[in-house]
Amino acid sequence: MRSVSIIGTGYVGLVTGTCLAEIGHKVVCVDSNKEKIRKLQKGVIPIYEPQLEELVHKNKKKERLFFSTSIKRAVKESEIIFICVHTPEKDNGEPDLYYVELVAQKIAELMREYKVIVSKSTMPVRTGKKIKETIKNYCSNELEFDVVSNPEFLREGSAVRDFLFPQRIVIGLESKRAERIMRDLYRPIRAPVLITSIETAEIIKHSCNAFLATKISFINAIANLCEKVGADVEEVARAMGLDRRIGREFLKAGIGYGGSCLPKDIEAFVHIAKKSGYDFELLRVVQKINKQQRDMFISRIKEVLWNLRGKQIGVLGLSFKPNTDDMRNAPSVEIINRLLEEGAVIKVYDPVAISRAKDIFKDSVRYCRSAYEVAQDSESLLILTEWEEFRKLDLGRIRNLLKVKVIIDGRNLFDPQKMRKKGFRYICIGRGR
Ligand code: UDX
Repeated sequence: MRSVSIIGTGYVGLVTGTCLAEIGHKVVCVDSNKEKIRKLQKGVIPIYEPQLEELVHKNKKKERLFFSTSIKRAVKESEIIFICVHTPEKDNGEPDLYYVELVAQKIAELMREYKVIVSKSTMPVRTGKKIKETIKNYCSNELEFDVVSNPEFLREGSAVRDFLFPQRIVIGLESKRAERIMRDLYRPIRAPVLITSIETAEIIKHSCNAFLATKISFINAIANLCEKVGADVEEVARAMGLDRRIGREFLKAGIGYGGSCLPKDIEAFVHIAKKSGYDFELLRVVQKINKQQRDMFISRIKEVLWNLRGKQIGVLGLSFKPNTDDMRNAPSVEIINRLLEEGAVIKVYDPVAISRAKDIFKDSVRYCRSAYEVAQDSESLLILTEWEEFRKLDLGRIRNLLKVKVIIDGRNLFDPQKMRKKGFRYICIGRGR
């Protein structure tokens, strides 16, 4: 059992801390938000993530998982300290590392013996070096310490599973001592461990997200071409995916990638590359295609519905992807806001994201309790998130409830021919016209 602390109990911090407790370590999760910590101490989880609540309760009970607002306690009680604070985007797209530096300073001031300080959140390459310099500058005694970069590859909606059953564990470090400790920390998890330099680990994280975004924009570009020539992007993606060199994942055409990670990370990577003297043109085009995807979706809505003023539009799905209530950078936010600007009347439904949506749209949209309530008298239905629940809808009932039988599907949930047979005007992405 190793003693671990997590500074910053946001999404990554909470999942990391809970899962490290689950594999047998003693973990203190720290956050400056008193309300959040008070709730977590009572077992109330601030985010929706499958399995997380159950594991928090279990490990609290086993006295392996603790929540605190005291960074002093965390530094004192642990040998390994994970920095998981958020790195918000500045106006120019660069990540803001102010909180990372602040935490590094605090750790330096509070340290009384050897510590391993691990950066876990996505941080620009060379942040590890900066953390090391900061600790040296602010530590009054000449203590030994190690800085490690251990990027996370967690996907929202499957973050616990991704942590406990990863495809690889990447650890960037500089000493044998840190290697021994980090290998021991992850020993209960069966996965290849890649030991690299700190900079390489940081670049691995950037590259993975950049490559995933590139795959999405690539298939969206193919979808646009498919529409023009009357081909079907779903079949193209299936055939491409069967080639093991390409792989099946992240070839789903739609309304572009969103979420708290990919858009921010790609923007940051473009900046970092530029700062390092390299113009990452490829990624700039990936971003451009992603933006165009939403523009085109809105143009399509206008083309079908003509004037939007006063028209009632139903929206199914708000979260940036299924199995999460996260609405950060969700395509739905931009699409709905633009429809509202044009004077449309919007009704929305999402299986879990309604309460988060209320913080964003306030009373500018009508919140419904089911897809059927959304469909009632609407002059079209938009699908913006591919929740499993929507695949199982009673489409006959939906058709009868809709005033105008149009479905504009940004996630290609249904077979176009079957939908047309059922009496819908069905518009989707990249499946001929
Ligand atoms: C991502 C990375 O996958 C993860 O490894 C990293 O640690 C954090 O960022 P996440 O943000 O949870 O994870 O979402 P992800 O599943 O990657 O989806 C991102 C966006 O891409 C979503 O909006 C999703 O709808 C979209 N997407 C994904 C597509 O449009 N098509 C696809 O084929 C896959």
